[in-house]
Amino acid sequence: ARTIKLALIPGDGIGPEVVTEAVKVLDAVTAGSDIEFAKTHFSLGATRYLETGDVLTDDDLAAISAHDVILLGAVGGVPGDPRLANANIERGLLLKLRFSLDHYVNLRPTTIYPGVPSPLASHGDVDFVVVREGTEGPYVGNGGAIRGGTPHEIANEVSVNTAFGVERVVRFAFAAASARRKKLTLVHKTNVLTFAGGLWKRLVDEVGATFPEVDVDYLHVDAATIFLVTDPARFDVIVTDNLFGDILTDLAGAISGGIGLAASGNINPDGTYPSMFEPVHGSAPDIAGQQKADPTAAILSVAMLLDHLQLTDAATRVRDAVVADIATRTDSSRTTSQIGDAIASALAAPALTQTL
Ligand code: NAD
Ligand code: IPM
Ligand code: MN
Repeated sequence: ARTIKLALIPGDGIGPEVVTEAVKVLDAVTAGSDIEFAKTHFSLGATRYLETGDVLTDDDLAAISAHDVILLGAVGGVPGDPRLANANIERGLLLKLRFSLDHYVNLRPTTIYPGVPSPLASHGDVDFVVVREGTEGPYVGNGGAIRGGTPHEIANEVSVNTAFGVERVVRFAFAAASARRKKLTLVHKTNVLTFAGGLWKRLVDEVGATFPEVDVDYLHVDAATIFLVTDPARFDVIVTDNLFGDILTDLAGAISGGIGLAASGNINPDGTYPSMFEPVHGSAPDIAGQQKADPTAAILSVAMLLDHLQLTDAATRVRDAVVADIATRTDSSRTTSQIGDAIASALAAPALTQTL
């Protein structure tokens, strides 16, 4: 028997609703196997902050780090809530986890599944993955303001790009492309961001020389948004920085039929720290508590988590059950838990062919 220590961070808003369904599916796919997930529940997020004033304590971080893997729902309150003005949940919790656990690869796959109501009328075979850098760029908090609150205020937010940080994520992206359709697109804005862009371009050229089988392409980020809508099938692996990757992956979710379908992994490829899997979406305060959230992104994040643990059969079974469910989605009024139940029970039912 193999016991895997799983840290669960349901978070705020729809986070707990979708994590409930993801855990349901995880339990269904592991039922009767010799794999056991030992789950620890961490109450973190805006709700915890409003109750205790804590965002993420050192003890929380140490306890989470002692797990093999993390599943997170979503954290964050209603944008603009004055009670959260100084809390900085996103930076103090989510980004602190990604940075402390060295999640330098933020892996965000997009597939347009058969039968899905994509807003794109015609799109061909869409199956790409965004390799978003996860620990650098404009997210590092290297900023400040002077003359705050005056007409002369100057606010800076410096994007930090290190050769070490860019090289390792670019190398991961090339390896991913090499194992897929062997096409890599660097997305940046080298025409304006000449220093950061120049570093990314140089390292893509250098690392690319060791992956001669991979075709390399470059797009400015603004043009990339055009092609994600007009010709998303052209993409295989996109490698890009933290902020561009954030923006492109919400767009990718939308074209794939909705942000409620978009899964992600915050990966520490070195295995030094636990990797963390979460839907791309946030806490969706506008629909929270109403059982309206699509739990598919959280469930597909479980599939990515299983893949990461090399539980490939279980991952494939989850993904197949999701794809089958999506293909037959005609009832748009299903609740969050009805979708989770349908996918979990499809996994629980032994395939007829196995008994014949
Ligand atoms: P959001 O992703 O929460 O919501 C954007 C829109 O998508 C909303 O209309 C929402 O109802 C819809 N949506 C999101 N998930 C859905 C789902 N599973 N099913 C159906 N519809 C879904 O983005 P936002 O409104 O910009 O952010 C809300 C809060 O979440 C903020 O505090 C933000 O900082 C936080 N956030 C957290 C994470 C995270 O924890 N990883 C990610 C993004 C945003
Ligand atoms: C995401 C979110 C986060 C990000 C925020 C909440 C810090 O938008 O996971 O995509 O920008 O990375
Ligand atoms: Mn985002």
